[in-house]
Amino acid sequence: MTQLSVRHLLGIKNLNENDIQTILDTATQFKEVINRPIKKVPSLRDITIANVFFENSTRTRLSFELAEKRLSADVVNFSASGSSVKKGETLLDTVNNILAMKVDMIVMRHSSPGAPHYLSSRIPANVVNAGDGTHEHPTQALLDAFSMREKLGDLAGKKIAIIGDITHSRVALSNIFCLQKLGAEVMVCGPSTLIPKHLGELGVKIGHNVKEALQWCDVANVLRIQLERQQIKYFPSLREYSLYYGINKAMLDELNKEIVLMHPGPINRGVELSSDAADSHHSIILNQVENGVAVRMAVLYLLAQQ
Ligand code: CP
Repeated sequence: MTQLSVRHLLGIKNLNENDIQTILDTATQFKEVINRPIKKVPSLRDITIANVFFENSTRTRLSFELAEKRLSADVVNFSASGSSVKKGETLLDTVNNILAMKVDMIVMRHSSPGAPHYLSSRIPANVVNAGDGTHEHPTQALLDAFSMREKLGDLAGKKIAIIGDITHSRVALSNIFCLQKLGAEVMVCGPSTLIPKHLGELGVKIGHNVKEALQWCDVANVLRIQLERQQIKYFPSLREYSLYYGINKAMLDELNKEIVLMHPGPINRGVELSSDAADSHHSIILNQVENGVAVRMAVLYLLAQQ
């Protein structure tokens, strides 16, 4: 059986190309499973997984829970709000108490970059990073790559533009690592205040003109403006951002070529994307969500073999 080179999924940076292809190929098999009338397999029947969320989530949390249930794992869910974290319990104490209840795997979202890495060196269970602050969101990048591959085939040589708030995005960094390992060309596009200065060192193209980025790319992966992480003003107003960096359906239709539109969600409708673009035939946004379950099944299944 093909195995991953890692015990934990902390970030795409730690994976090699073979790991990524193995996850995507395994996800293809699980996608077939979840489209059957009986969507469940016994693969993780003796495994207990805790979803430990210190930050809000809709897609990632539900998607992991469904993936675990489709694999027949036992599942417990923990939210920091309403827990003893509010009484001052540390992250490590919280997780060690969860593990004392015979939990085998931790899926964690945390606002601090590096929190899953810290945990993975201190506990015996497998750790899956479900998003750590502005650092990485590996399963989002994997489901994005899976969705692109499903639409375009092999990603080697394909051109992907990541457009929007790059500075505050964990999706951007994981996508850059993942797409480059698969041989794609990556451009990031947005106002210079929302593109970190060091990003050019990763070998990505940098752009500030959305129309040029759309003309260049096969796929536009549009990111949310993360107002909750912005302590200062990075642009004068949402209206102005939308005017210069927002994407609408007319802009996509004018291109005279096929383009795939993606967004990890949640969407700020009318800011980075108009509703007519988000809901257009160019968009595969809900396919991304569907594929998230199969990709997370693949990740959990493969890590459980380690
Ligand atoms: N894409 C994503 O991570 O969405 P949630 O924050 O809703 O999980």
